[in-house]
Amino acid sequence: MSAIKSVSVLGLGPMGRATVRLLLAAGYDVTVWNRSPGKTEALAELGAKPAATAAEAVAANDTVLLSLIHYDAMYGVLEAADLTGKTVVNLSSDSPANTAKGADWVLARGARFLTGAYMTQSDDIAHPASKLYVSGPADLHEELRPMLESLCANVHLGGDYGLAQLYYQAGLAMFHAYLISLQQAFAMIERSGGDIDTFLELSKDDAGSQRDFSLYFAQAAKNGGWDDLASLKMMHAGAQHVIDASEDAGVDAAITRTIQDYYQRALDATERTGAVVPVYRLFRGDH
Ligand SMILES: NC(=O)c1ccc[n+]([C@@H]2O[C@H](COP(=O)([O-])OP(=O)(O)OC[C@H]3O[C@@H](n4cnc5c(N)ncnc54)[C@H](OP(=O)(O)O)[C@@H]3O)[C@@H](O)[C@H]2O)c1
Repeated sequence: MSAIKSVSVLGLGPMGRATVRLLLAAGYDVTVWNRSPGKTEALAELGAKPAATAAEAVAANDTVLLSLIHYDAMYGVLEAADLTGKTVVNLSSDSPANTAKGADWVLARGARFLTGAYMTQSDDIAHPASKLYVSGPADLHEELRPMLESLCANVHLGGDYGLAQLYYQAGLAMFHAYLISLQQAFAMIERSGGDIDTFLELSKDDAGSQRDFSLYFAQAAKNGGWDDLASLKMMHAGAQHVIDASEDAGVDAAITRTIQDYYQRALDATERTGAVVPVYRLFRGDH
């Protein structure tokens, strides 16, 4: 265990509660607070100490972890607290810009600050694949590392407070699209009389193939994007096949229509400019 033996956790949604349970299991003395009642009792049974107010929770320990819905919630929660000499680690999700603004606000109140972004499978923080992306001063992270690593593996991404959020939100951009597309695929299978388990078996090795595509597209992105015109046309036509297969079965294909629109825009820009315009350049805002 680090020199830090005790910590306060403010915000007891699924992530805050999972954080508290792991800290207690690792032997930390944990004070807890939540805006609405009813979230502290089960944690108190495990040994956590409920505080009556956020200010009281902050006063109880030098190190304060926040697990709130967004950074905006932090201002109201910490408004009445004395932050002088405290260390605040905000584990809430938000944009890099809102995070930088939040960091300035905390620093101006005399506290040290670290950003944390949980890249986890829901609230299963202890899952072996879980990571905590961290940004802010490296020496402060080193000081807190033993405590933060009692939660899951840490990756320090740099001194800029927004960096943890940047990499987290980029990961989430992919994850959101994946989760929505997965449900479209299941609906296509089910509504067409197929078997979801057969589909799962067929797609069980996809992760390896996705890794290959990631490497290929990363290289292409560094060179301006994937610019194979025949492939752009094929992908546009392929998207139409997914739309037809979905809509024939009564399944919503709006996400595939959006995807097809990217290929259409790339083809239109290619026609306009006389040079192949990769979809990547649309995302970059070049066209
Ligand atoms: N769940 C996940 O799988 C996951 C994974 C990685 C990261 N995250 C991120 O971790 C953070 C916490 O997520 P979560 O799933 O535990 O729950 P959440 O629903 O995002 O946040 C719940 C917490 O925020 C508090 N809260 C909301 N608005 C507030 C306000 N205006 N003032 C004070 N407190 C406020 C809630 O208090 P009340 O109980 O009073 O409403 C509750 O304690 C989020 O930023 C989320 O995006 C979540």
